[in-house]
Amino acid sequence: MCGIVGYIGDRDLLPILLVGLERLSYRGYDSAGIAAISDGEMSYWKRAGKIRELEDTVKTLSITHAMGIGHTRWATHGESSEINAHPHVSQGKKIALVHNGIIENYLSLKKQLTKEGHIFRSQTDSEVIVHLIERYLHDDLEEAVEKAVQDLTGTWAIAVVAECDPDKIVVARKGSPLIIGLGKDENYISSDINAIITHTKEVVYMDDDEIAIIEKQNVTIRKIGGEVITKKVNHISWDAIMQEKGGYDHFMLKEIYEQPAVIRNIISKYINSDNTIEFKHINLEKQDLARVSRFIIQACGTSWHAGLIGKYLMEKYTRTLTEVDFSSEFRYRQMITDGAGGEVVVAISQSGETADTLACIREAKCKFYNILSFVNVKGSTIDRESNAVIYTHSGPEIGVASTKNYLAQLMCVYLFTIYLGQLKWTLSQEQVDLMLQNLKRVPEYVEQILAQADKIKAIAEKYSSSREFIFIGRGLNYPSALEGALKLKEISYIHATGYPAGELKHGPIALIDSDLPVVCIAPQSATYDKMLGNIQEVRARKGKTIIIATEGDESIAQYADDIIYIPLAPEDLTPILVAVPLQLLAYYIAIKLDCDVDQPRNLAKSVTVE
Ligand code: G6P
Repeated sequence: MCGIVGYIGDRDLLPILLVGLERLSYRGYDSAGIAAISDGEMSYWKRAGKIRELEDTVKTLSITHAMGIGHTRWATHGESSEINAHPHVSQGKKIALVHNGIIENYLSLKKQLTKEGHIFRSQTDSEVIVHLIERYLHDDLEEAVEKAVQDLTGTWAIAVVAECDPDKIVVARKGSPLIIGLGKDENYISSDINAIITHTKEVVYMDDDEIAIIEKQNVTIRKIGGEVITKKVNHISWDAIMQEKGGYDHFMLKEIYEQPAVIRNIISKYINSDNTIEFKHINLEKQDLARVSRFIIQACGTSWHAGLIGKYLMEKYTRTLTEVDFSSEFRYRQMITDGAGGEVVVAISQSGETADTLACIREAKCKFYNILSFVNVKGSTIDRESNAVIYTHSGPEIGVASTKNYLAQLMCVYLFTIYLGQLKWTLSQEQVDLMLQNLKRVPEYVEQILAQADKIKAIAEKYSSSREFIFIGRGLNYPSALEGALKLKEISYIHATGYPAGELKHGPIALIDSDLPVVCIAPQSATYDKMLGNIQEVRARKGKTIIIATEGDESIAQYADDIIYIPLAPEDLTPILVAVPLQLLAYYIAIKLDCDVDQPRNLAKSVTVE
């Protein structure tokens, strides 16, 4: 999704902006641009396609003692083209603006501005903002931006520079993330910490309805129409090195291989040496948590799959009614509460910025639900707006297709289930001890699966020319089937669908023929025998079976065209384990097809529009 970066200071401007844009590129983009003000004059460049194109255009230039803003665009209004790329400039080309978000009333504003004589160059909603600023600008950019945003409906993070005010970048936020990075005699702005982390780790998070003036030596933040406010300066603990590929061909592969370390980290963060579980950022009283009568989990994409697995675990071990919904659906349905205060809305989000999920928690807060969030990015909007947070501690995830954070989410949901089971007395100490003992073996199990990468690669290559896949699983591994299919679709563009294996006979079985690979997730489980029956239904129709089974299960091999074994583990932990071969299968198929696995077409890492 769109990204913003900006810099004011004495250093060479363009490399800072270009590297910043590269570091934003993982969010997904289709065009990029830069505007700079130097010696009181504005210049701007934009290109459709890769940032490389933009870099080629400006590579011979050096601009110091200046300021500038840059943008990666992910098209919403208007196709991907140079004209629609940001920055958008005012009619007189004296003001430049970059925008993330969606301006919902842009058509009426555009009509009005056109009547007033403004000529629009692009098809974007964003361009109206720069024309509005131009309309209001006499000599004070801050005042003009403030007036302009008051005419807007929708969401925005904007950064504006103008020739008439050459020593400041004016930024404003409503609904889309914006961070100010603090330096010495220089300052930064960005929609994402990744773009500026190599320069500073001291950041201020802007909140909605705030405007800020960024100068070389000063940052002033005000509420729109209000007084100057003092905001907390936050220190970022992530290192820039975590955002390098570290010798791997792709971030996705690196992140898959980081999974054992991520799991070990989560174990050390949340399980004390006396085997007690502790969540430091749950600001809800234990007795209130123990009284929760219903959890409503809402999330998107891979995080939604983690939520589905959470439902199985929470209902089984805490006997608490748990519903799961897509954020984009939950937000617009009736939120029915029993009014007794025993219901908690659970948001699961890697980025902590997904607009649908954020909109849900805001709506739920208005209806007096407590919000518990599982979030990876500290300081993200969902983190800051939740009553209770469990950090998934997977470090920066750069590959657009989520891998290590999915495993981290599953680990955290599992730990929270045990924690809650203790509070609610639905789990005995013996059960808890056994569950934790099993959990601590997971990193080793994941390493054993990673050691089979070559075998999985060979299977992936064998099926890479298939144009369609079905993934099936039962119980806890029905969401695993959905996640396996999603991974494949996301990065290889092969159509794939995940199904609960028992549903196969109610429709999808019609698709099966000798060309169709069916990935069957069949570890030892309570429904293993039923799963075996479903696999045979596939075989009887000549479907190709790629089976994921438990080590030692030799009898299942007779039903498999190809088989991948995972170590023997309790059923509850199998979604964590089966996710790994599914990730590798998708990765190697996509590589074989020469796809851009880290930045798949049309996708965004952090989806900040509804
Ligand atoms: C996008 C990403 C997915 C991710 C989903 C939810 O669609 O491409 O990988 O699962 O957003 O993101 P979140 O940050 O809320 O977990």
